[in-house]
Amino acid sequence: MWLNSALSLLPLAVLAFALPTKDCELKVKESVVPPATWTKFGAAPPDHMIKLRIALPQSNFRALEEHLYEISNPYHERYGAHLTKEEVEALVAPHPESVDSVTNWLSSHGIGEGDISRSPAGDWLIIEAPVSLIETMLDTKYHVWKHATTGEYLVRTTSYSLPKYLLDHVDLIQPTTMFGTFRKLESTIHSISSTEGQIQSLDLAPIVDSATGITVDGSCNSTITVNCLKQIYNAVNYTPSADVGNSIAVTGYLDQFANFADLQAFYADQVPAAAAANATFNVVSIAAGNNSQDPTQAGVEANLDVQFAFGLTFPVESTFYTTGGLPPFIPDVRRTTNSNEPYTEWLDFILGHPNPPLAISTSYGDDEQTVPLSYAQRACTGFAQLGARGVSLTVSSGDGGVGDSDPDPATQQCITNDGTNRARFPASCPYITAVGGTKFFPEQAASFSGGGFSDWFARPAYQDSAVNAFLGALPNGTYAGLFNASGRATPDVATQSEFFRVFAGGVARQVQGTSAAAPTFIGIVGLLNDARLKKGLPSLGFLNPLLYSQAASGFNDITVGSNPGCGTPGFNATKGWDAVTGLGT
Ligand SMILES: *[C@@H]1O[C@H](CO)[C@@H](O)[C@H](O)[C@H]1NC(C)=O
Ligand SMILES: *[C@@H]1O[C@H](CO)[C@@H](O)[C@H](O)[C@H]1NC(C)=O
Ligand SMILES: *[C@@H]1O[C@H](CO)[C@@H](O)[C@H](O)[C@H]1NC(C)=O
Ligand SMILES: *[C@@H]1O[C@H](CO)[C@@H](O)[C@H](O)[C@H]1NC(C)=O
Ligand SMILES: *[C@@H]1O[C@H](CO)[C@@H](O)[C@H](O)[C@H]1NC(C)=O
Ligand SMILES: *[C@@H]1O[C@H](CO)[C@@H](O)[C@H](O)[C@H]1NC(C)=O
Repeated sequence: MWLNSALSLLPLAVLAFALPTKDCELKVKESVVPPATWTKFGAAPPDHMIKLRIALPQSNFRALEEHLYEISNPYHERYGAHLTKEEVEALVAPHPESVDSVTNWLSSHGIGEGDISRSPAGDWLIIEAPVSLIETMLDTKYHVWKHATTGEYLVRTTSYSLPKYLLDHVDLIQPTTMFGTFRKLESTIHSISSTEGQIQSLDLAPIVDSATGITVDGSCNSTITVNCLKQIYNAVNYTPSADVGNSIAVTGYLDQFANFADLQAFYADQVPAAAAANATFNVVSIAAGNNSQDPTQAGVEANLDVQFAFGLTFPVESTFYTTGGLPPFIPDVRRTTNSNEPYTEWLDFILGHPNPPLAISTSYGDDEQTVPLSYAQRACTGFAQLGARGVSLTVSSGDGGVGDSDPDPATQQCITNDGTNRARFPASCPYITAVGGTKFFPEQAASFSGGGFSDWFARPAYQDSAVNAFLGALPNGTYAGLFNASGRATPDVATQSEFFRVFAGGVARQVQGTSAAAPTFIGIVGLLNDARLKKGLPSLGFLNPLLYSQAASGFNDITVGSNPGCGTPGFNATKGWDAVTGLGT
């Protein structure tokens, strides 16, 4: 007894010290050539604090993925048998040997259990430590880097090492070599214009789509309201309930918050029942996400997302997540550096939640190429975990047309490292539903609708036949060498994305972008979940295997329009799936 407790009091550092000398054999874990836009500005201050995230391998992710595909396949007997939080965590938990090796290593550097925080499944360890200590641990040298055009600073290194025995127990450590910062994370609003207070052309004759037989108000061709969306997508007179356990949410980043007063103005304009009930939404702030409610700083993106997703589903329980990103590094200020991984911050929070909302929309993304592959893969496995728990996720496919990136202003070519097309992250993650954009009624593709093929994520089986049919019908040699035909293809689906009548700062505006499409699609998913819950059925969960099979016939196929980009005419909207509007609306 005495011996035991005495032993357990031995500092772990002593045990680690006793390890054989193999402890000292270091090997480079990762090294990068930094983008030319970043130049070395000076040495990093040794006492500058860094919030370091260490990813341990998820020992059983393949099994989680198998479960996910079974329970999302409408032809499988386990369809809808979502996993519990505990079941998901057990499948992504790191191997105990990895946990022990890494915690012993941290302890040998004086970092004890009390200094470590962990993601809900224990697959991420998070520590805060000064540059000087991290440099010793990773056998590296941090510098302050300055961005040539924006003048921003980053504290990064180009290479880091680990003891050889740790290499298989760590997937990645950041911030180290991550120069493509998430600070580029962009809202996918294409443009905003001011508008008159009144909806224009209310007196126009109704429009009939002869292909579908659907009739909508004449004004819906030039102003999109909640009513227009219900008419276009066949949801008129469907009344969801507040009391069947349904829930819906929208994520927000970049200091944007959704304004309560603007929502009331929107409801007064478009959803009278919600206005009469003074309906509002829950706000959850993550990592000091902003919710100042300052009426002069209304976030148009956040307002757009909240107004349409919640307007379509009122009175379903609704939540807005505002996730902070720490401010950029300022030399000489001794504070914890910007690590800015907002997706992982949000994922840590939501995966730890016992009952996450059943349908969640995100209208932010980044060029895939600017997010390190190792990091994108880990964020993507987080989205898979949510899907396995029965959560449907939509994300805007991006507003840059084909390839979706900022083309060189002079040449209009997309600047890529390897000459291939870019996709958008997280839209390219195969466990998310990527939503492109349409306009007008009858609908046609919006020219900014992001679409294309990922370089990082292979094409998932659920979209094989749809995408092969599209590729097979392309004129021979189309864009040869410009895109990777074996990559995950986006978008999956589309919705209206132009002329959305949004309230911001108390004023109605017209907003366009696939930013409008992701919350619209999630709103319809919210209504479908409502119908299922009323019948005692589980929520839809991860949507894509259903969308590409049984549900494919429920879409309006969009066959007019294209998405020019990267100095090319882009792809065409065609019969069946296409890289502009996916399966349709
Ligand atoms: C919808 O608006 C577009 C653009 O203004 C116009 O070309 C088209 O004729 C309109 N469609 C209908 C049915 O009014
Ligand atoms: C909504 O708010 C108004 C003004 O604050 C109040 O008079 C009214 O009773 C409220 N309605 C409901 C249903 O709570
Ligand atoms: C939150 O946003 C307001 C503007 O709406 C700004 O004044 C304030 O500084 C922000 N707070 C933080 C912590 O970023
Ligand atoms: C094309 O995509 C596949 C699947 O993601 C990947 O393995 C391959 O490396 C990619 N090729 C290029 C040239 O990017
Ligand atoms: C298409 O291209 C392939 C390879 O470049 C060539 O072998 C084939 O003959 C072409 N097919 C047609 C129909 O032009
Ligand atoms: C798009 O359609 C136009 C007109 O039919 C055709 O000329 C062009 O080759 C098509 N582009 C692609 C990429 O399929």
